[in-house]
Amino acid sequence: MEELLKIHDLTIELRTKKARYNLVENIDFTVNEKEAFGIVGESGCGKSITAYSIINLLSTPPLYIKKGSINFKGKELTNLSSKEMRKIRGNEISMIFQEPMTALDPLFTIGEQLKEVMQIHTKLTDKEMDNKVIETLKKVEIPRAEQIVNDYPHQLSGGMLQRVMIAISMINNPKLLIADEPTTALDVTIQAQILDLMNGLKEKFGTSIIMITHDLGVISETCDRVAVFYGGHVVEISDVENIFENSMHPYTLGLVKSVSSLGQKRKELYTIPGVVPTYDQMGIGCRFYDRCVKKMDICKNKVPPLKEYSKGHQCRCWLYEEVN
Ligand SMILES: Nc1ncnc2c1ncn2[C@@H]1O[C@H](COP(=O)(O)OP(=O)(O)OP(=O)(O)O)[C@@H](O)[C@H]1O
Ligand code: SF4
Ligand SMILES: [Mg+2]
Repeated sequence: MEELLKIHDLTIELRTKKARYNLVENIDFTVNEKEAFGIVGESGCGKSITAYSIINLLSTPPLYIKKGSINFKGKELTNLSSKEMRKIRGNEISMIFQEPMTALDPLFTIGEQLKEVMQIHTKLTDKEMDNKVIETLKKVEIPRAEQIVNDYPHQLSGGMLQRVMIAISMINNPKLLIADEPTTALDVTIQAQILDLMNGLKEKFGTSIIMITHDLGVISETCDRVAVFYGGHVVEISDVENIFENSMHPYTLGLVKSVSSLGQKRKELYTIPGVVPTYDQMGIGCRFYDRCVKKMDICKNKVPPLKEYSKGHQCRCWLYEEVN
């Protein structure tokens, strides 16, 4: 499989008047062509800022890329000017967010908003654009697409709006779609429909997807491979099937335990005791130290390396290293 996106040693820093904090540190992962890659982890572990850094949407200040590289199709994205990034964003790389309503303009129709996204990147005629809008709405399974183009956002349900957002993000046939918690704001049945739709996007549009979620069940339904984030570190990377059967990191084991079987949640969910430390409480060792039932002396003072222990399976934990 060809590599599409390669993130290496990415560290994002928060600069305040008092101090500087690494919000995410030494992030390493690769997304291949036509692959659905999951990023999973608890709230605050750095999923969104990692995603924003790819398309240069970090809130700077106070956040800065301190070091590392983000390579997309052989091009280094961290060096691009805002103008060069605008050519890529919404075109080769697009993103959908948790709250569809906030991303749409209430004063313009659905059709107008889809066309606006296209206009920035296309030389199609007006008529050709109208056709492409309808065709894309149909591809995301919006019924009565011909009428919906004339509707305003408030006339549509949350699920339909999220479909519209997906249509907007797909209309320029991006190579990479980043979906940041795309179903969290929706009710359960609609969530399932949107996840079904996302599953079909890879085939319909030939796109790679980065699916960001705190729910390993969502990952199991939609992704080929997954990176588990904890406290701003990647702690495990694996094929999705493998992570359920052979998870290595104690945090991943807890996550797996909290999902009873693939995608099926228990009524009484297991939760990992304790809370994620905030960035100003991080120690110098393994960031899972306070909550880990298997911690050892070395874990407190030294961050373990992220290493590949079998083909395609990486983990960051001292349990698998020979330590004295
Ligand atoms: N603009 C900002 N200023 C200061 N701190 C920030 C800013 N944006 C994010 N952070 C901090 O960076 C860390 C990572 O945030 P991020 O939003 O990436 O988490 P997340 O994994 O996406 O969480 P969630 O699941 O809640 O969306 C958090 O500690 C957060 O408080
Ligand atoms: S490095 Fe140590 S504290 Fe961290 S997860 Fe592994 S065993 Fe637990
Ligand atoms: Mg987030």
